[in-house]
Amino acid sequence: MIVAIDGPSASGKGTLARGLAKALGFAYLDSGSLYRAVAAKLLAAGFDPNDAAVAEQVARAISPDDLERPDLRSEAVAQAASRVAALPPVRAALLAFQRDFAKRPPGATGGAVLDGRDIGTVVCPEAEVKLFVTASAEERARRRSKELIEKGESGIYARVLKEMRERDDRDTARSHAPLVAAADAVEIDTTDKDANAVLAIALAVVAEKRKSFRRD
Ligand code: CDP
Repeated sequence: MIVAIDGPSASGKGTLARGLAKALGFAYLDSGSLYRAVAAKLLAAGFDPNDAAVAEQVARAISPDDLERPDLRSEAVAQAASRVAALPPVRAALLAFQRDFAKRPPGATGGAVLDGRDIGTVVCPEAEVKLFVTASAEERARRRSKELIEKGESGIYARVLKEMRERDDRDTARSHAPLVAAADAVEIDTTDKDANAVLAIALAVVAEKRKSFRRD
């Protein structure tokens, strides 16, 4: 079974994806870390994240080790990631890695959970379960600034909200694989829900899907 989870930044999709993977015993891929790894490598080598030719080369050479880089979660890398993510050759180069993971989840588990922006629409349109996770921009900025402060980084709310809106706009407006809910995705608004409540809703969706499999 493939579970595709999409949504904007800090909507709670990563927390949900990890929780679901653990509860179901599935493998988990945070597809954002692929774009972040490309961006981090470009920034570290002094390249412009809008340079499509270099970014494509870096994307083609991404390995699982790159997803463990300690600099992936910084805001500078997040901004650069949403720039490289708008380049079609970069997206094409990262597609095989993601589809491979979904088809042959490492650890020979019964399935895979992938989260990102285009998993249900482009990467795994055949996914049995599709969730689209949202929350208000204000709540998402509040969560992200709390996370940054906990890591010892600057988490000024107004700046985080502004940067998040810029990134949301870029992710939604790009012509190639924009952030959008798949027609058959179940939407979960997490604005007023804690992680356990969101996980319970998602597990109910999965259980329902499994029941309908057995009926078919
Ligand atoms: O953690 P957060 O939700 O803020 O970001 P992320 O999921 O790590 O993604 C970082 C950036 O990568 C996003 O702003 C998108 O531009 C891009 N991305 C994408 O285009 N497609 C995906 N499947 C995943 C991420």
